Amino acid sequence: MRFAAPHQAAGVAVPPQPWWVRTVVYQICPRSFFDASGDGIGDLAGITAKLDYLAELGVGTLWLTPFYDSPQRDFGYDIRDFRHVAAEYGSLGDFQSLIDGAHSRGLRVVLDLVLNHTSDEHEWFVEARKGRTNPQRDWYVWRDGRQPAGQAPPTNWRSLVGGRGWHYDRGSGQWYWAQFLPFQPDLNYRNPDVRRAMLDIVRYWLDRGVDGFRLDIVNALLEDASFRDNARSWRFFPSHQSTGAFFQRPDRSLNQPETLAFLAELRALIDGYDGRSRFLVGEVVAPLDVARSYCGDHGELLNLVFLFASLRMPLRARRIRELILQYERQFPEPLMPTWVFSNHDRLRRISRLGGDLQRAKLNAALQLTARGVPFIYYGEEIGMPQARLPMAQTQDGLAHRFRRWPQALVDLLRLLAGDSLNRDECRAPMHWSSEQNGGFCPPHARPWISVAPAVSARSVAAQQGDERSLLSCYRRFLEARRASPALSAGALSLLAASELPAGVVGYRRTVAAAGEGEGEVVLVLLNACGRRRSVRISDPSLRLLVSTDVDRRSPTGGESLVLGPWEGLVLRAR
Ligand code: GLC
Repeated sequence: MRFAAPHQAAGVAVPPQPWWVRTVVYQICPRSFFDASGDGIGDLAGITAKLDYLAELGVGTLWLTPFYDSPQRDFGYDIRDFRHVAAEYGSLGDFQSLIDGAHSRGLRVVLDLVLNHTSDEHEWFVEARKGRTNPQRDWYVWRDGRQPAGQAPPTNWRSLVGGRGWHYDRGSGQWYWAQFLPFQPDLNYRNPDVRRAMLDIVRYWLDRGVDGFRLDIVNALLEDASFRDNARSWRFFPSHQSTGAFFQRPDRSLNQPETLAFLAELRALIDGYDGRSRFLVGEVVAPLDVARSYCGDHGELLNLVFLFASLRMPLRARRIRELILQYERQFPEPLMPTWVFSNHDRLRRISRLGGDLQRAKLNAALQLTARGVPFIYYGEEIGMPQARLPMAQTQDGLAHRFRRWPQALVDLLRLLAGDSLNRDECRAPMHWSSEQNGGFCPPHARPWISVAPAVSARSVAAQQGDERSLLSCYRRFLEARRASPALSAGALSLLAASELPAGVVGYRRTVAAAGEGEGEVVLVLLNACGRRRSVRISDPSLRLLVSTDVDRRSPTGGESLVLGPWEGLVLRAR
């Protein structure tokens, strides 16, 4: 195997790129990160208290899930007031201290923007619900039911979570549309006043210095203008492979072309705001080509979309290779893929990897070396497992419907769905130390949700000084990524499977020399199997940049490299 020397690098010369192309995002649920006030609920001051930890970890951007005023029936995704901080999370002053503290450490802050809906306690909906002639009625999606008596919902549309998305309002005898849960009525984006009001909210947070937004279920903003029915489908379980789910194809209730027109408006606002560069990342649960359409052909709409195919991807060479190829095909430069393995809605990745720390290290190596923006979910860097909590006590609004189900049935459905049905389980408090409550809140406080057992061995404190820990492995890869332009922003070319032993994935990341800047080539080798694998390296100039194995010695020139089980490493041409 031969690798081009840097000056001959075949990569694309990278023009000056915006900061977010090279960033690594760390997702924080404020409620579960760190409780500074001592009431058992994480808060904004808690995040500020942990900024040094985050800066030392080496991530670049913090994404905060919603902390706005809310009845918390969907843990903040049901917003009552977009401009206020929920009392349990602190105040606007706390937010300002957080953002200032983050910026002073070189960290960026991205907020969760829930454009699609509000809480039913939002004053707009309280007004709208007052009657058909209320001036704010049209801010939401209201329709008469089907004739003759109007007692049947206006269309056959199912919500994103499976049930009927239309809800009857006795007072006015009309139905309102809610893409998520009944207490989250959808805003009507066909009404210019709504669009204006939501863009004003964006301005409000831009003025407070935020560096971008994560857009919640952004492909749901608009519905078919003529309210036609959705077609039938054979699919029941939603997945990223098909738009079909719950036995219908939601072509009329999702992914409407007018949504892209609104996103163009939003993008123009963000880009033209005050000369600072910011980004938009969208949540679009859909097949790759549909997700990609939200970026526009050249990245002129959203900068990024979450790609969820990796969530369930088995850690096997063939699957990794296939996914990288698909991403490269669908997201060629200037588009960028994203690498997401866990989040606040889904099973934690380590629990899909059988709790195995070796595999978790290899997973991190993939996430931090493939082309794209990585999103690390809080606790992923310490291998925090999915908690197992009794469904009968779930606090997750989405899981309430299962509360009375026998556990055996819940377990069966969980198996069929391939995911947890209770989102509380991936939202357990961060394990900071072996103290009571995992150091998340003071020993005398009662955490809002149970702190999963086995805290001590996996806590931050237990791993911090241990160079063999998962946490140290994340830090090394994050450091290598920052030090290497090729790793953070270079082009990717996959090595043919035939060039490598079975089970090993290899790719080059390359930036060409441009102007004063030198080019760089790195070679990534990931051994996605539990046996040693020998790879012949014919280029004597390759040296070790980083490995999941802290004892790995750098090759000194042209020898065979024996990769350990589940080892991932990066070599750099000198
Ligand atoms: C998104 C969020 C999820 C929330 C839902 C409704 O899918 O990730 O947590 O419940 O939207 O806003």
